[in-house]
Amino acid sequence: MGRMEGKVAFITGAARGQGRSHALRLAQEGAEIIALDLCQPIESVPYPLPTGGDLAETVKLVEDLDRRIVAREADVRDFSQLQSVVAEGISEFGHIDVVCANAGIGSWAPALEMEEQMWQEMIDINLTGVWKTIRAAVAPMVERRQGGAVIITSSVAGLVGFPNLSHYSAAKHGVVGLMRVLVQELAPYMIRVNTVNPTTVDTPMVNNDAIFRLFRPDLENPTRDDAAEALVGLNALPIPWVEARDVSNAVLWLASDEARYITGVALPVDAGFLQKVGGTPSVLPE
Ligand SMILES: NC(=O)c1ccc[n+]([C@@H]2O[C@H](COP(=O)([O-])OP(=O)(O)OC[C@H]3O[C@@H](n4cnc5c(N)ncnc54)[C@H](O)[C@@H]3O)[C@@H](O)[C@H]2O)c1
Repeated sequence: MGRMEGKVAFITGAARGQGRSHALRLAQEGAEIIALDLCQPIESVPYPLPTGGDLAETVKLVEDLDRRIVAREADVRDFSQLQSVVAEGISEFGHIDVVCANAGIGSWAPALEMEEQMWQEMIDINLTGVWKTIRAAVAPMVERRQGGAVIITSSVAGLVGFPNLSHYSAAKHGVVGLMRVLVQELAPYMIRVNTVNPTTVDTPMVNNDAIFRLFRPDLENPTRDDAAEALVGLNALPIPWVEARDVSNAVLWLASDEARYITGVALPVDAGFLQKVGGTPSVLPE
């Protein structure tokens, strides 16, 4: 018996990266999956976002594990779209047990130079989108009175400030605050709420030219290996990044009955980043 046998997990941002990895890890342990992703470009985001083909690949990979999945293109900024996906998922599987509010974007600029659009898109997706996801997907869990688990993807930037990421840090701190309130509001229904707070994760959000240039402004055409050399300095363990599956394993544990009385935790998956002295270097060159 898998650790998620009989459970249904609702996952946002599941076309690729950590969201896809969470879908596969939970499915490996027996979960049925309800997945959504925007699958479209966003103006203030300087790296390529996934397409419908990426979401279709997630579907295939889950089905290859002999698990069922309902996957839709939808925007976490749109509450009615979220409600539709929740309704479709429940009509297929009957209930939701686990919510992974994972969808998010990255962008960067100094706070006093940031365009309003960059600020607003970040807050709308990485903060308000998390609240809307939970508002839509947890309501039926409360109604069902069978408990459950909510795992919000924050970041180490939800626990310490990063220069040039004012909007991202504000949003990621914001979801930790949201988690702390929801812990109390949802505890009477035996619904647990935690965040995961990863350091750099090797996903397309990081594995792209814009990020390579950001971390290696000294090079004309920096490569992934060049960026890795700079990123390794952020973590206490001598690694440039964790893998998506490292975060998925933390999500799986928080979602499982093994963590049945764990609620209110902001769990670093950070290779010691937060304990490293002076571990918050600027992510933008002078
Ligand atoms: N990669 C890292 O270094 C890192 C570190 C800490 C936290 N995070 C967080 O992890 C989460 C997952 O990111 P990832 O690393 O897998 O990056 P990713 O870009 O591969 O995946 C993010 C997914 O979210 C989707 N998405 C974005 N806006 C959306 C919207 N409005 N509606 C629906 N879906 C939307 C994207 O299309 C994409 O598929 C994000 O919340 C991110 O902020 C990432």
